[in-house]
Amino acid sequence: MISPGWIWAVVLTILVPFQGTVPALQLDINDEQSIKNAARTTAYNMMSYYHGNESGQTPGKLPDTWWEGGAMFMTLIQYWYWTGDTSYNEVTTQGMLWQKGQNDYFPANDSNYLGNDDQVFWGLAAMTAAELNYPEDDGQPSWLSLAQGVFNTQVPRWDTSSCQGGLRWQIWPYQAGYTTKNAISNGGLFQLAARLGRYTNNETYSNWAEKIWDWSATTPLLQTNAWYIADTTTTEAQCKDHGDIQWTYNYGTYISGAAYMYNLTNGADKWKKGLDGLLGSAFQKFFPQQYGSNVMSEISCEPNMMCDRNQDCFKGFLASWLTFTTTIAPYTAGEIIPKIQQSALAAAKQCSGGDSGTQCGRRWYQPQWDGETSLETDMSALSVFSSNMITHQQHGSSQGPLTSDTGGTSKSDPNAGTAPKNSPDKLPDITTGDRAGASVLTVAFVSGWVASIAWLVYGG
Ligand SMILES: *[C@@H]1O[C@H](CO)[C@@H](O)[C@H](O)[C@H]1NC(C)=O
Ligand SMILES: *[C@@H]1O[C@H](CO)[C@@H](O)[C@H](O)[C@H]1NC(C)=O
Ligand SMILES: *[C@@H]1O[C@H](CO)[C@@H](O)[C@H](O)[C@H]1NC(C)=O
Ligand SMILES: *[C@@H]1O[C@H](CO)[C@@H](O)[C@H](O)[C@H]1NC(C)=O
Repeated sequence: MISPGWIWAVVLTILVPFQGTVPALQLDINDEQSIKNAARTTAYNMMSYYHGNESGQTPGKLPDTWWEGGAMFMTLIQYWYWTGDTSYNEVTTQGMLWQKGQNDYFPANDSNYLGNDDQVFWGLAAMTAAELNYPEDDGQPSWLSLAQGVFNTQVPRWDTSSCQGGLRWQIWPYQAGYTTKNAISNGGLFQLAARLGRYTNNETYSNWAEKIWDWSATTPLLQTNAWYIADTTTTEAQCKDHGDIQWTYNYGTYISGAAYMYNLTNGADKWKKGLDGLLGSAFQKFFPQQYGSNVMSEISCEPNMMCDRNQDCFKGFLASWLTFTTTIAPYTAGEIIPKIQQSALAAAKQCSGGDSGTQCGRRWYQPQWDGETSLETDMSALSVFSSNMITHQQHGSSQGPLTSDTGGTSKSDPNAGTAPKNSPDKLPDITTGDRAGASVLTVAFVSGWVASIAWLVYGG
């Protein structure tokens, strides 16, 4: 008989040396070079999923998703800003310009199946490029104008036929989700408008930002008594009902917008209250006490490992938006920075997967790799790694997002994106083959987001 204790001794003897050789990502947040190395490795891993710059491929397009391209380039622009690494600027600029549509990020290939939230992510990427003085391309529309183009196409979709306002989630009546008004669409335009308002000093934008915030506060999407953000509400119920799944990026987008408005208004009480209220909720919800209160978690899908590819992106947005919040509302830094630091250290431990041994899993709170590898989990980790450069600012990146008065050089075009639009009114005659193709597309573009709603049904 072999005693169990003896077996364990053998097992441990065999396993322990091997564990030491697993090449997990190294990260020392006090060492600028270490942060850059971790970010560079993760950016490389993330970009191994991107083939849009290869011959026969479509620049800016990721397989079966359109919006994530915008999110990926936004993350790469931030990576460039924080680390100075220009390795991905060429692919970023190529993709950002290829997908620009009629300067509105509503390109004809995809526009029949897009939601307002899909489009706004590209607008936020362009806005990020403008604020960070990301290099412009000669003869091409400016980054600022492309952000303005998204604003100019979304504002006419403001829908007063129900709920006395609000953006619908999906744009076309034939799309599932047309009767939903959701937090990310409205929060996304709120944030974009606030940023445009601060950058240009044009009150049209800041008035819209305030209008969207105020409208949101009349619905469950922004509950200013409890500082609670519902994911969805519907026109059928005049926006009295609420889908309550809690997502980091919903909070992130309203937090960030409030921070820009706080800065623009030189600290107005309304925005400070909103910023403080939402920060308090986000800290309490998404940095669970059981993991030490400083490690970010996508609480609605990580425990059962059911996050879909969209949801795996969200932590990265909250990380970068919180980090930029500390530059425009500096009083928040003391609370935010430790959360960005501890989240990055935790994420680095999670980045020990895949063939390279450095690909990132999902659950930052778990010290061993959780088995997940994806562009999206790498993207979230990249965002939180890059963000840690905030405490190493001696190379002049400390001023945060610029404005036209503080060195931002991107040119304004208030009329961007207002050319006559493609509309799906004249859809081509549908053959059986096309119909199948179209439904595949619909599923591809809508299903990820519908999964957010379906969560209540299957996730609990
Ligand atoms: C595509 O971009 C990657 C960087 O992500 C680069 O290494 C590669 O050489 C590029 N390919 C082409 C065909 O330009
Ligand atoms: C639209 O699709 C075609 C065919 O796949 C492709 O060649 C083209 O580059 C696409 N345009 C955009 C803006 O994605
Ligand atoms: C606004 O942001 C700038 C940095 O861009 C910062 O120096 C300033 O303190 C901020 N204003 C307020 C009221 O916090
Ligand atoms: C401000 O923005 C609005 C909306 O784009 C535009 O109509 C107006 O011309 C802009 N004003 C200035 C001074 O640029």
